[in-house]
Amino acid sequence: MSQDNRATDWGGTAKTFHWLIAFLIFAQLVLGWEAVHWPLTPTKIDLFVWHKSLGMLILVLVVLRLLWRIGHPHPPYPAHMKTWEKRLAAGVHALLYVLLLAMPISGWMLNSAAHVPVRLFWLVPLPPLVGPDRALVRPLVIAHVLMGWTLAVLIAVHIMAALYHHFVRRDRLLVRMLPRLRRRAGEGV
Ligand code: HEM
Ligand code: HEM
Repeated sequence: MSQDNRATDWGGTAKTFHWLIAFLIFAQLVLGWEAVHWPLTPTKIDLFVWHKSLGMLILVLVVLRLLWRIGHPHPPYPAHMKTWEKRLAAGVHALLYVLLLAMPISGWMLNSAAHVPVRLFWLVPLPPLVGPDRALVRPLVIAHVLMGWTLAVLIAVHIMAALYHHFVRRDRLLVRMLPRLRRRAGEGV
């Protein structure tokens, strides 16, 4: 599998970033909601350590993905797509990237403002992003929760759009983002 994006398809690097981050985001949304609603037991603390650790891991992966993406353009959209459809798709993708950055940064800020020490994966101390500030905590929690819901809704729209392309428009938009498990007969090694 070519690591670079090609004239028509996403390359291996883009696909790996996409599916790894998508998997982590699903886990992260569930962990966030579970951690908040869990009764006050040691498990609640563990759920929050997982949530904060995976959140910071997502931040690192998204920054790497964006840096990689700058030098590797999006393969062209299917020819039947109208200009407004392409703009809408690009807009939703841009908003997804913004939220993928804003979620961990707001979580990191609220954790710092609330002055809660945490060791990522029980190993690495998370340095504060801002100083302790009780007045900042509530607006940051509200922002984190609202952006979490916005992200969940956008992901649902994104998935429906991918399925619409595959089953209704019957183009290759979804297939070209899927892992290529088998080589087609006649393809070189
Ligand atoms: C948490 C879940 C997900 C997130 C955050 C996410 C995010 C993104 C982003 C940011 C892009 C744009 C890539 C770029 O232009 O650099 C993208 C592309 C894409 N995503 Fe997702 N995605 C998720 C889940 C899914 C799922 C479950 C599917 C399939 C049902 C899917 C199908 C696609 C496809 C087909 C593309 C390529 C679209 C194109 O070629 O223009 N995504 N995704
Ligand atoms: C992509 C990254 C992240 C996502 C998608 C995410 C998502 C969520 C969600 C869905 C909730 C539950 C919201 C609710 O009550 O409905 C939550 C809560 C929370 N998250 Fe995150 N989060 C991320 C990163 C982080 C990070 C990096 C930290 C800290 C270092 C963090 C700290 C928290 C805290 C402290 C809460 C509880 C807020 C409260 O008091 O209600 N999150 N997060």
